[in-house]
Amino acid sequence: MDSHIVVAIDGYSSCGKSTLAKALARELHFIYVDSGAMYRAVALYFIRNQIDPNNNSQVLEALKNIHLNFHSRDYETHVTLNDEEVSSEIRLMPVSENVSTVAAIKEVRHEMVKQQQRMGRSKNIVMDGRDIGTAVFPNAQIKIFMTADPKVRAERRLRELLPKNPTITLEEIFENLAHRDYQDTTRLESPLVRAHDAIILDNTDLTQQEQLLFALSIVEPFLEKK
Ligand code: CDP
Repeated sequence: MDSHIVVAIDGYSSCGKSTLAKALARELHFIYVDSGAMYRAVALYFIRNQIDPNNNSQVLEALKNIHLNFHSRDYETHVTLNDEEVSSEIRLMPVSENVSTVAAIKEVRHEMVKQQQRMGRSKNIVMDGRDIGTAVFPNAQIKIFMTADPKVRAERRLRELLPKNPTITLEEIFENLAHRDYQDTTRLESPLVRAHDAIILDNTDLTQQEQLLFALSIVEPFLEKK
């Protein structure tokens, strides 16, 4: 029997999913996949090529021309879009402002989910996103649903973005996170929702080490069973 372990981490925008997922993968020697980076790379392609998300034939044509590649160096996600390294550009505001609209498109989701399922088919994996425990790996052994106070989330994201974008404001980020959460939770196609068997982790007042220990305590019983 195939006994690989899947850890699915879902939750709201900028609540530390990828920080936890990376730390957990490093600790357990699992593969880490940042599914949000895939939607961000697709959104970047749409922006650059002026693809109209409402134009179905443009969307289908774009999907045929998008080739994503992932590699992880020291648990940092490196994404290439048609052989160009886009790992930094996908984190910037123009992509953040468009990604949830692109991620709501059914055909985009079907293609990304197919690729994500392939990545987790036979390996121990930690994947973070919005629909990992509900749509991508509904049978994942471990599901964590993360949340945190919206103001704390915006402050964390501000600290992350300021070095690359010194003019960005807390208000701008706060608005973007709220808007994406709204779009992600209300879209028709696999909206962000807690899987009924996901454990909630509110990390508003937790340090990174504390949240890692919490997650490890959930995963460890599964490692012993193997
Ligand atoms: O890091 P942050 O929480 O800001 O977002 P992300 O994980 O990079 O995801 C960016 C966007 O991609 C989200 O706001 C969603 O619209 C979309 N996404 C999704 O729809 N499904 C996923 N599994 C992952 C991301």
